[in-house]
Amino acid sequence: MKTILIQLDTDPQPSSFDRVVAVDAGVDELFSYGGVTPENVEPLVHGAMFTRGPADLKNTALFIGGSNVAAGEAVLEKVLRTFFGPMRVSVMMDSNGSNTTAAAAVLAASKHLDLAATEALVLGGTGPVGLRAAQILASQGAEVHVASRSLERAEQACATIVRNVEGAKLTACTSEGDGLQEALGRVQLVIAAGAAGVQFFDADGWQAADSLKVAIDLNAVPPVGLGGIEVTDKGVEHAGVTCYGAIGVGGTKMKVHRAAIAKLFESNSLVLDTAAIYEIATSLG
Ligand SMILES: NC(=O)c1ccc[n+]([C@@H]2O[C@H](COP(=O)([O-])OP(=O)(O)OC[C@H]3O[C@@H](n4cnc5c(N)ncnc54)[C@H](OP(=O)(O)O)[C@@H]3O)[C@@H](O)[C@H]2O)c1
Repeated sequence: MKTILIQLDTDPQPSSFDRVVAVDAGVDELFSYGGVTPENVEPLVHGAMFTRGPADLKNTALFIGGSNVAAGEAVLEKVLRTFFGPMRVSVMMDSNGSNTTAAAAVLAASKHLDLAATEALVLGGTGPVGLRAAQILASQGAEVHVASRSLERAEQACATIVRNVEGAKLTACTSEGDGLQEALGRVQLVIAAGAAGVQFFDADGWQAADSLKVAIDLNAVPPVGLGGIEVTDKGVEHAGVTCYGAIGVGGTKMKVHRAAIAKLFESNSLVLDTAAIYEIATSLG
């Protein structure tokens, strides 16, 4: 039986990026819908649930994407409420690449550090990518400093993570001023996940941190988030610190995305969210 991926995109035009990845992941048929909202998604989900018999439902899956991560999360919630009993298909949520990018970044760090014994700083920790990277790190036992320009927003991000990761070791901090320099001075890992074109430190700034072992910058738009890191760096040493740039992480992100799409067709009951996508990433080695 042919595999069918139903792309539910919250943007008016379904993402061509996500369509290319679906094809490269080997799906036989791709149905793409744009402008998907919690209010109009139910008939699309029913179309997936009620067409093939229970034994064949694993050949149909849903992918939720789009540039607005909160909108994608709302659609996922409605999709999960639409399923009942065995009448369900597997679903993956990766709006704006948030889950696959965060998973790829943490996977890169895990190649050099024992995450359970790591203290990490996530800059831009309130954004979709940063919050997920912080969540995955916390789930692996790392102690995580979550940074934002606003301490209140950093605290909110920590509260969100604690709801998902029991016992998470988190500290909220500001991404400006002395507090930031102090946090950087304590950690072995920094992940810069600020908005495109936002620089947190120049090269001298982050290289002054003695304890730092791994630095990952996810911003590809100049100026990069951590000055001196090249976007193509992939495990390259600068001043004794192992560094990754946005493109360096991006190759792994693409592999994780393709592997997650392929995984959807292994059963009809998978929900590929942040934690599940990180698990898939680790299985890639
Ligand atoms: N390599 C890849 O494959 C890949 C894939 C997807 C995304 N990305 C990149 O990953 C990064 C994070 O993505 P995202 O979607 O999570 O980003 P985002 O939502 O645009 O921004 C993340 C955070 O950056 C902070 N920020 C915004 N403007 C700032 C400024 N002027 N100064 C300091 N902080 C500022 C904000 O936190 P506060 O307001 O709380 O301070 C915001 O929550 C981006 O650079 C994106 O381009 C890379």
